[in-house]
Amino acid sequence: MSPVTLSRYLIEQTRSNNTPADLRFLIEVVARACKAIAHQVQKGALGGVLGSMGTENVQGEVQKKLDVLSNDILLEANEWGGHLAGMASEEMDNAYQIPGKYPKGAYLLVFDPLDGSSNIDVNVSVGTIFSVLRCPDQYLSQNDALNEQAFLQPGTSQVAAGYAIYGPQTMLVLTLGSGVIGFTLDRELGSFVLTHENIQVPQSTAEFAINMSNQRHWEAPVKRYVDELLTGEEGPLAKNYNMRWIASMVADVHRILTRGGIFMYPRDSREPSKPGKLRLMYEANPMSFLIEQAGGASTDGHQRILDIKPEGLHQRVAVFLGSKEEVERVTGYHQ
Ligand code: AHG
Ligand code: MN
Ligand code: MN
Repeated sequence: MSPVTLSRYLIEQTRSNNTPADLRFLIEVVARACKAIAHQVQKGALGGVLGSMGTENVQGEVQKKLDVLSNDILLEANEWGGHLAGMASEEMDNAYQIPGKYPKGAYLLVFDPLDGSSNIDVNVSVGTIFSVLRCPDQYLSQNDALNEQAFLQPGTSQVAAGYAIYGPQTMLVLTLGSGVIGFTLDRELGSFVLTHENIQVPQSTAEFAINMSNQRHWEAPVKRYVDELLTGEEGPLAKNYNMRWIASMVADVHRILTRGGIFMYPRDSREPSKPGKLRLMYEANPMSFLIEQAGGASTDGHQRILDIKPEGLHQRVAVFLGSKEEVERVTGYHQ
């Protein structure tokens, strides 16, 4: 049988699940941009793309050349097609306005153009995370600037989410709200080909991911839970756990979607004004949508991440996601 490309998959979704044609186009454009980013990432030192820009983003983090390049690729690919009312990104302080010379569309695109920046220069997997929302009617206007309030919708309102991972293989992992599928980039065809159908996170696990160097800053429920993991067979959980921390959320989540596990980036006492490190709109929400669609769970320790009503584009949130049993246990310790 001939391979099912992303385009064919999306067209079949339009037929069977009524996926709107403009959403299909949007996903294809994002996928095309991710191919362009993959191309830049793999050039590495040969393309002069490694290293820092010498600038900071709105969160005060140093921008790498590839952060900025990836952001530009996504903006340029998506601004002209008429499918978007606006965009927002980790690398831009404010919402991106669709230039007046182009028509506007019904959707909002929010992204982390390059996740795992600290791994770029050491040749470890990085990725692009994206979330698609519908622009509420009251903010839809061909003439006026888009109000940032339009983006501040809970994760349950996402119509699609996914990530591209640039690793030994480039993959696109996607949900349109009915399960999770994965595509692998066939570099000879230049197409994403369906390779992973109906991705499911195993309910239980013996693998965890957390940046242990922050242990002294954690809150009591997280200390308790990780202490229990570390005591292994002799402890209350009665099994030995393995630890993995890649420091690219994309790669850690990809591993969990592949073979289970729990990923944690808890709030900690380093900067009390910031609840955790990860951002709600373009990291936690799209990943939580994928994880839930794959049968896993995702909370901030107290509530389902997808239920949080955002207050700002760059809002941070604590994250516990992955295999249901473990996420429920550590969430329970917070009650
Ligand atoms: P980004 O590169 O987009 O800023 O995101 C990095 C995030 C996430 O990918 C990862 O899980 C985490 O930061 C790594 O944090 P540590 O530096 O604490 O390991
Ligand atoms: Mn990130
Ligand atoms: Mn990033």
